[in-house]
Amino acid sequence: MEYNIRPWKLADAENIAEALNNKKILDNLRDGIPFPYTVQDAKEFITAMLNADKEMTYAFAITANNKAIGSIGVFRQTNIHARTAEMGYYIAEPYWGKGIGTSAIKQTCDYIFKHTNIIRIFAEPFAHNIASCRILEKCGFKFEGTLRKNAFKNGNIIDMKMYSILKD
Ligand SMILES: CC(C)(COP(=O)(O)OP(=O)(O)OC[C@H]1O[C@@H](n2cnc3c(N)ncnc32)[C@H](O)[C@@H]1OP(=O)(O)O)[C@@H](O)C(=O)NCCC(=O)NCCS
Repeated sequence: MEYNIRPWKLADAENIAEALNNKKILDNLRDGIPFPYTVQDAKEFITAMLNADKEMTYAFAITANNKAIGSIGVFRQTNIHARTAEMGYYIAEPYWGKGIGTSAIKQTCDYIFKHTNIIRIFAEPFAHNIASCRILEKCGFKFEGTLRKNAFKNGNIIDMKMYSILKD
Protein backbone atom coordinates (compact mmCIF):
# COMPACT_ATOMS: atom_id res chain seq x y z
CA MET A 1 0.00 0.00 0.00
CA GLU A 2 1.36 3.44 -0.93
CA TYR A 3 0.60 6.39 1.36
CA ASN A 4 0.95 9.93 0.09
CA ILE A 5 -0.37 13.45 0.26
CA ARG A 6 -1.85 15.14 -2.79
CA PRO A 7 -4.19 18.05 -3.68
CA TRP A 8 -7.89 17.50 -3.06
CA LYS A 9 -10.30 16.31 -5.74
CA LEU A 10 -14.06 16.75 -5.53
CA ALA A 11 -14.31 13.01 -6.13
CA ASP A 12 -12.74 12.45 -2.67
CA ALA A 13 -15.95 13.62 -0.97
CA GLU A 14 -17.51 10.19 -0.40
CA ASN A 15 -14.39 8.67 1.11
CA ILE A 16 -13.75 11.64 3.33
CA ALA A 17 -17.37 11.78 4.51
CA GLU A 18 -17.05 8.13 5.53
CA ALA A 19 -13.78 8.83 7.36
CA LEU A 20 -15.04 11.86 9.26
CA ASN A 21 -18.32 10.33 10.38
CA ASN A 22 -16.56 9.19 13.51
CA LYS A 23 -16.94 10.71 16.96
CA LYS A 24 -13.46 9.44 17.93
CA ILE A 25 -11.99 11.73 15.28
CA LEU A 26 -14.29 14.70 15.86
CA ASP A 27 -13.63 14.60 19.61
CA ASN A 28 -10.01 15.46 18.87
CA LEU A 29 -10.68 18.32 16.46
CA ARG A 30 -12.00 21.85 16.88
CA ASP A 31 -15.76 22.37 16.98
CA GLY A 32 -17.74 23.40 13.92
CA ILE A 33 -17.57 20.18 11.91
CA PRO A 34 -21.07 18.77 11.43
CA PHE A 35 -21.96 15.34 12.86
CA PRO A 36 -23.21 13.36 11.05
CA TYR A 37 -20.91 14.55 8.28
CA THR A 38 -22.52 14.21 4.87
CA VAL A 39 -21.05 13.86 1.39
CA GLN A 40 -22.40 17.36 0.76
CA ASP A 41 -20.44 18.64 3.81
CA ALA A 42 -17.33 16.98 2.37
CA LYS A 43 -17.93 18.54 -1.06
CA GLU A 44 -18.24 21.99 0.54
CA PHE A 45 -15.02 21.45 2.50
CA ILE A 46 -13.10 20.29 -0.57
CA THR A 47 -14.45 23.18 -2.65
CA ALA A 48 -13.40 25.65 0.05
CA MET A 49 -9.90 24.14 0.13
CA LEU A 50 -9.58 24.25 -3.67
CA ASN A 51 -10.72 27.89 -3.75
CA ALA A 52 -8.70 29.06 -0.74
CA ASP A 53 -5.95 31.65 -1.01
CA LYS A 54 -2.90 29.64 -2.16
CA GLU A 55 -0.57 31.75 -0.02
CA MET A 56 -2.59 31.11 3.15
CA THR A 57 -3.95 27.57 3.00
CA TYR A 58 -2.04 24.42 2.05
CA ALA A 59 -4.51 21.56 2.16
CA PHE A 60 -3.90 17.97 1.13
CA ALA A 61 -5.73 14.69 1.05
CA ILE A 62 -3.85 11.85 2.74
CA THR A 63 -4.13 8.86 0.44
CA ALA A 64 -3.74 5.09 0.45
CA ASN A 65 -3.17 3.90 -3.12
CA ASN A 66 -4.64 7.26 -4.18
CA LYS A 67 -7.87 6.79 -2.16
CA ALA A 68 -8.46 9.71 0.24
CA ILE A 69 -8.28 8.38 3.80
CA GLY A 70 -7.53 11.56 5.68
CA SER A 71 -6.80 15.24 5.60
CA ILE A 72 -3.83 17.43 6.49
CA GLY A 73 -3.71 21.20 6.27
CA VAL A 74 -1.29 24.00 7.09
CA PHE A 75 -2.83 27.41 7.67
CA ARG A 76 -0.68 30.52 7.56
CA GLN A 77 -1.28 32.96 10.39
CA THR A 78 -1.58 36.72 9.96
CA ASN A 79 0.05 40.01 11.00
CA ILE A 80 3.37 39.46 12.83
CA HIS A 81 2.70 35.70 12.72
CA ALA A 82 2.53 35.60 8.92
CA ARG A 83 5.58 33.33 8.65
CA THR A 84 4.15 30.79 11.08
CA ALA A 85 1.40 28.32 10.29
CA GLU A 86 -0.86 25.94 12.18
CA MET A 87 -1.16 22.32 11.10
CA GLY A 88 -4.19 20.05 11.56
CA TYR A 89 -4.84 16.47 10.43
CA TYR A 90 -6.91 13.33 10.80
CA ILE A 91 -6.90 9.81 9.38
CA ALA A 92 -9.79 7.35 8.98
CA GLU A 93 -9.85 4.98 11.94
CA PRO A 94 -9.25 1.73 9.98
CA TYR A 95 -5.86 3.17 8.97
CA TRP A 96 -4.63 4.18 12.45
CA GLY A 97 -1.39 2.76 13.82
CA LYS A 98 0.29 2.08 10.47
CA GLY A 99 2.63 5.07 10.46
CA ILE A 100 0.51 6.98 7.95
CA GLY A 101 0.02 10.04 10.18
CA THR A 102 3.75 10.29 10.80
CA SER A 103 4.51 9.99 7.10
CA ALA A 104 1.85 12.59 6.16
CA ILE A 105 3.23 15.14 8.63
CA LYS A 106 6.79 14.62 7.37
CA GLN A 107 5.74 14.97 3.74
CA THR A 108 3.68 18.08 4.48
CA CYS A 109 6.40 19.84 6.48
CA ASP A 110 8.94 19.04 3.75
CA TYR A 111 6.60 20.56 1.15
CA ILE A 112 5.90 23.70 3.21
CA PHE A 113 9.52 24.41 4.06
CA LYS A 114 10.59 23.80 0.45
CA HIS A 115 7.86 25.74 -1.35
CA THR A 116 6.84 28.61 0.99
CA ASN A 117 8.53 31.20 3.19
CA ILE A 118 6.95 29.74 6.34
CA ILE A 119 9.60 29.19 9.01
CA ARG A 120 7.56 27.69 11.86
CA ILE A 121 4.76 25.11 11.83
CA PHE A 122 2.89 24.48 15.05
CA ALA A 123 0.19 22.10 16.25
CA GLU A 124 -1.91 22.21 19.39
CA PRO A 125 -3.26 18.73 20.23
CA PHE A 126 -5.37 18.19 23.32
CA ALA A 127 -3.03 17.11 26.11
CA HIS A 128 -4.80 13.73 26.32
CA ASN A 129 -4.32 13.03 22.58
CA ILE A 130 -1.34 10.73 23.01
CA ALA A 131 -1.28 9.51 19.39
CA SER A 132 -1.16 13.04 18.02
CA CYS A 133 1.55 14.15 20.48
CA ARG A 134 3.53 11.03 19.64
CA ILE A 135 3.49 11.54 15.88
CA LEU A 136 4.51 15.18 16.24
CA GLU A 137 7.48 14.10 18.35
CA LYS A 138 8.36 11.38 15.83
CA CYS A 139 8.41 14.07 13.12
CA GLY A 140 10.85 16.27 15.02
CA PHE A 141 8.37 18.71 16.54
CA LYS A 142 9.48 20.11 19.90
CA PHE A 143 7.12 20.27 22.89
CA GLU A 144 7.05 23.93 23.95
CA GLY A 145 4.67 23.74 26.87
CA THR A 146 1.17 23.05 28.11
CA LEU A 147 -1.55 25.57 27.28
CA ARG A 148 -3.48 25.27 30.51
CA LYS A 149 -7.28 25.12 30.29
CA ASN A 150 -7.00 26.31 26.70
CA ALA A 151 -10.10 24.59 25.29
CA PHE A 152 -13.75 23.98 26.09
CA LYS A 153 -14.79 20.82 24.26
CA ASN A 154 -17.78 18.52 24.80
CA GLY A 155 -18.51 20.30 28.09
CA ASN A 156 -14.99 19.85 29.47
CA ILE A 157 -12.17 22.31 30.03
CA ILE A 158 -9.04 20.80 28.53
CA ASP A 159 -5.30 21.46 28.47
CA MET A 160 -3.59 21.58 25.10
CA LYS A 161 0.05 21.06 24.17
CA MET A 162 2.06 23.36 21.94
CA TYR A 163 4.43 21.65 19.51
CA SER A 164 6.42 23.30 16.76
CA ILE A 165 9.02 22.56 14.13
CA LEU A 166 11.28 25.17 12.55
CA LYS A 167 12.55 25.30 8.97
CA ASP A 168 16.16 25.17 10.11
C1 LIG B 1 -3.56 11.30 15.50
C2 LIG B 1 -3.65 10.42 14.25
C3 LIG B 1 -3.59 11.32 13.00
C4 LIG B 1 -2.44 9.47 14.27
O1 LIG B 1 -2.33 8.85 13.00
P1 LIG B 1 -1.69 7.39 12.83
O2 LIG B 1 -1.50 7.16 11.37
O3 LIG B 1 -2.49 6.39 13.59
O4 LIG B 1 -0.28 7.61 13.54
P2 LIG B 1 1.01 6.69 13.43
O5 LIG B 1 0.62 5.28 13.11
O6 LIG B 1 1.97 7.36 12.49
O7 LIG B 1 1.65 6.81 14.89
C5 LIG B 1 0.85 6.66 16.06
C6 LIG B 1 1.80 6.62 17.25
O8 LIG B 1 1.05 6.88 18.44
C7 LIG B 1 1.18 5.80 19.33
N1 LIG B 1 -0.07 5.69 20.08
C8 LIG B 1 -1.32 5.70 19.59
N2 LIG B 1 -2.21 5.60 20.59
C9 LIG B 1 -1.48 5.54 21.74
C10 LIG B 1 -1.81 5.42 23.11
N3 LIG B 1 -3.08 5.38 23.51
N4 LIG B 1 -0.81 5.37 24.01
C11 LIG B 1 0.49 5.45 23.62
N5 LIG B 1 0.86 5.56 22.31
C12 LIG B 1 -0.12 5.59 21.40
C13 LIG B 1 1.47 4.61 18.45
O9 LIG B 1 2.08 3.57 19.18
C14 LIG B 1 2.42 5.25 17.44
O10 LIG B 1 3.70 5.48 17.98
P3 LIG B 1 4.93 4.46 17.70
O11 LIG B 1 5.13 4.44 16.21
O12 LIG B 1 6.06 5.04 18.44
O13 LIG B 1 4.50 3.11 18.20
C15 LIG B 1 -4.95 9.58 14.22
O14 LIG B 1 -4.99 8.81 15.40
C16 LIG B 1 -6.20 10.42 14.14
O15 LIG B 1 -6.64 10.78 13.06
N6 LIG B 1 -6.80 10.75 15.31
C17 LIG B 1 -8.04 11.52 15.39
C18 LIG B 1 -7.88 12.96 14.93
C19 LIG B 1 -6.76 13.66 15.64
O16 LIG B 1 -6.46 13.40 16.80
N7 LIG B 1 -6.13 14.62 14.94
C20 LIG B 1 -5.07 15.43 15.52
C21 LIG B 1 -5.62 16.62 16.20
S1 LIG B 1 -4.32 17.59 16.94
